Formats: sequence, structure tokens, C-alpha cells
Amino acid sequence: MSKPRSLKSVILLRLAIPLIIFMTVETVLSYFVTLHYVDNAYDRWLLDSARSLTQEIKLQAGRVVVDLPPEALEIFKWDESDKTYFKIISAQQGVIAGDKFVPEPFAPDTDWSKPVFFDEMMYGEPVRVVSMLLPPEPGAEQVFVHVAETVNKRRAMMIDILLADLVPQLILVLVVGLFLLRGIKRGLQPLQLVANEIAQRSPRDLRPIPERHVYQEVQVLTNTINELLQRLAYGIASQQRFIANAAHQLRTPLAGLKLQAARALREQNVEAMQPALVQIQNSADRMAHLTSQLLVLARSEPIEGDYELVPVDLVELARSTCMEFVPKALQRNIELGFESDEPELIIKGDAVLLRELLANLLDNAITYGKEHGNILIKLERNPTPCLIVEDDGPGIPESERQRIFERFYRIPGTAGVGCGLGLAIVKEIADLHKARLQLRPFNEQVGTRIELKFD
Ligand SMILES: Nc1ncnc2c1ncn2[C@@H]1O[C@H](COP(=O)(O)OP(=O)(O)OP(=O)(O)O)[C@@H](O)[C@H]1O
Ligand SMILES: [Mg+2]
Repeated sequence: MSKPRSLKSVILLRLAIPLIIFMTVETVLSYFVTLHYVDNAYDRWLLDSARSLTQEIKLQAGRVVVDLPPEALEIFKWDESDKTYFKIISAQQGVIAGDKFVPEPFAPDTDWSKPVFFDEMMYGEPVRVVSMLLPPEPGAEQVFVHVAETVNKRRAMMIDILLADLVPQLILVLVVGLFLLRGIKRGLQPLQLVANEIAQRSPRDLRPIPERHVYQEVQVLTNTINELLQRLAYGIASQQRFIANAAHQLRTPLAGLKLQAARALREQNVEAMQPALVQIQNSADRMAHLTSQLLVLARSEPIEGDYELVPVDLVELARSTCMEFVPKALQRNIELGFESDEPELIIKGDAVLLRELLANLLDNAITYGKEHGNILIKLERNPTPCLIVEDDGPGIPESERQRIFERFYRIPGTAGVGCGLGLAIVKEIADLHKARLQLRPFNEQVGTRIELKFD
């Protein structure tokens, strides 16, 4: 089995991923915004240098001349980190002064009404260039001034601004991450406490988990576990009651067996042993019946997921089970009738258990019904499949109708080898099939009618 993922890492990851995406987007955005402002500021300086150059351009006898003293050139070029180049061009004379490699804007539709800024390469280095056309003087030729400057200052400024933006952000993320990690660890602690609490218990300790130190979210879990523990405790208690009852029920015929066997052994001839042997047979019958009822009950005990319900034809099942009970009914001169509206009634069920259910109902009807009476087994679709067993015997008093479904309960004074498990088995099998069980008198006062409605 692969190791399950840690909740802590999942929460952290879910928080960290959007945080990293947000930070990246924010950094890219702020890079472009910063670039814009830095460029604006330095472009203004570049324009100032270009304008200072234009001061040195003179008009002599209609010709443009540039008189650039070395000191002025020095001041113009002076910069700690960047190199500055310039070029002055007149329409007729070509390059009048400066470096002829200074780039110019090539677009033919360049708007010369205002200075033009652009990025280019010069001597293998990126440069920012400003180009301007001097205001034309009457009769004079057109003069262009181009000034290029390497971008070291701009870059340094960009890096400074970006670092100033990014470093506090990174520190913030680290600090928030640390607090988150601690917070998540602390937040998940109650789960560990609940796990410890359960791990330390003995398997017999089914008390609910105490509600101290429990958050709402953890409480959902503990409540569910507590409900399960409660059902488990109830199940175990009823299981124990059942075992105690079963042991008690088995002990009675066993004690009878021992007693009768001892009595038989005391007798000298077979004749005298006869009554004791009859008793032994009776006790053995009771035990065999009890054992088979206990086994059916154990089989019908609802264990989730253990049963595969398959299509079963109720008509066929009821008819064949009735046939098995004909001899027993005849012994008491009871007429056993079978009626079905439909040729077949298919339900989803367990055929073996459904046969046990019907066998118990028929056994009761024959055993407790009146001699020379009538029993009717009916199958209807009204509108869902319904199995009915009716007898015209003495019926079951109203006050007993709940209790007879309890395990080992028999109506006081009832004779026979029964052990009081039949109807408990019927109920368990009905529950397993999610069928509704109804018991009422067959004919207002007398008789018994048991209905089993399947969905
Ligand atoms: N058709 C019936 N008519 C009258 N009484 C009934 C009928 N069916 C059940 N009873 C009463 O309900 C009691 C419980 O029936 P149940 O089938 O659970 O136990 P049992 O028949 O005594 O024993 P088992 O079925 O385990 O052999 C019976 O003892 C009987 O008194
Ligand atoms: Mg019975």
C-alpha cells in the first residue's frame, strides 16, 4: 500500500502554490511599471543633454556649424557609469559633428514634431537614443541631433527597485510559511490526541471518546466514531445476551438427557427402560431443533456486504416449501392451501433464507393452529410482491404481538419442542430483505395472518 499523503503538506502546498503564482505575477507587473517610470526619468535627462548640445549649433552665412569646445564636450560626456555618444546631421552636409555610428530612427513616417526615443544597439551594447529635429530657421537647412547613452544606470536602478520590492516579499513569504507550518501542526494536534486516546484503549473499552479539546471539524469524526462505538457496544451486549440464552436453552435438554440416561441405566430390563428412552429421544429432538434454529439465526444475522441477493421466484419457492409441510399438516388433519395471483413473482433475495422464513411460519401455523383447521399461503402483487400465511387457529393475543418476535420468547403455556426462535428468525430474514412484516388476526377475533411485503 502506498504511503498516504500528509494533510499538513497538502494544506501547505495548496496555500503555497497560489502565493507563488501571485508573487510571480506581481513581480512581472511591477517590473514593467518600474521600467516605465525609470525610462521616463532617464529619458528626460537624455533629452536635457541633447538640448544642451543644440546650444552649440550656430548659423553662419546660412550654413550650419557646430562649435563644441573640449570643456563642453567633457561635461557632455561626463558620466560615472554610462557612455554617451552624439551625432549632428544637416540635410545638406551630412554628419557635422559626433560619432557617425549613433543610430537614427529608420521609420519613414517618424513624427519629428517632438523628440523621438528608442532602444538600439551600438558597438555591441544596448543604448537608449533620443533624436530631435531643430526648429527650422528661415533659409537654413534641416538639422538633426541624435544622442545615445548606454543603459547601465537604468539597469542598476531597475535591479535596485526590483530587489527593494522582492526581498521584503520573500521575507514575508518565509515568515508567513513558518507561521502557517506551526499553525497547521497545532491545528492538527487534536487528531493526534484522538488517535492516542483510541490507541491506548483496551479492546473491551467502548466508552465514547470524551469531547474535550475537540474542534468542530474533529467533532464530526469523533461523533461518527462514538456512534459506531455505541452500535458496537449494543451489538456486543445483545450478542452476549444471546449466547447466554442459547447456553441456557442447550443446558436444559442436556441435563434432561443425562438424567434420563442415568434412569435408564438403573433399570434391569429393556421394558422398564422404555419411558426413559422416550424421554431421551424427546430431549435429543429438542436439542436437534434448537441447534438447527441457532444455525439459521447465525446465518441470517445481518453482516453488511455478506449477502448477495439474487433474483428468486417467490411462487416456486412457496409452492415447494408448502409441499414439504403437507405430511406434517396431515398429521393434524389441517388443510394446507396455496394461492397465487401471478405465475411467477421475482424478487431479489436469498433463496435458502427465504425458505427458512416460510418454513418457520408454516411450522407455527401447523403447530399452533387448530386441528381440522385451514392454512392458506397466498402470493399477491399489491402492487409490490407480498407473501401471506393465514391460519384459523386461536391467534396471538394483542399483548403478545410485539414480544413473540424476541429471541427465545414463547407465549407462556405453549407446548411443544419449540425454543422461541422461529419468529425472531423470520424478522431477521425479513429485515435482511428490507421487507415489511405485519401481524394481525386473520378474521377479526381468531386466527393469525402474517404478511411480508417486499419492495
Ligand atoms: N400461528 C400462530 N398461532 C398462534 N400462536 C403462535 C403462532 N405463531 C407463533 N405463535 C406463538 O408465538 C410464539 C413464538 O413463536 P416462535 O416461532 O418464535 O417460537 P416457537 O415456535 O415457540 O419456537 P421455534 O419456532 O423456535 O421452534 C410461539 O411460542 C407461539 O406461542
Ligand atoms: Mg415456531
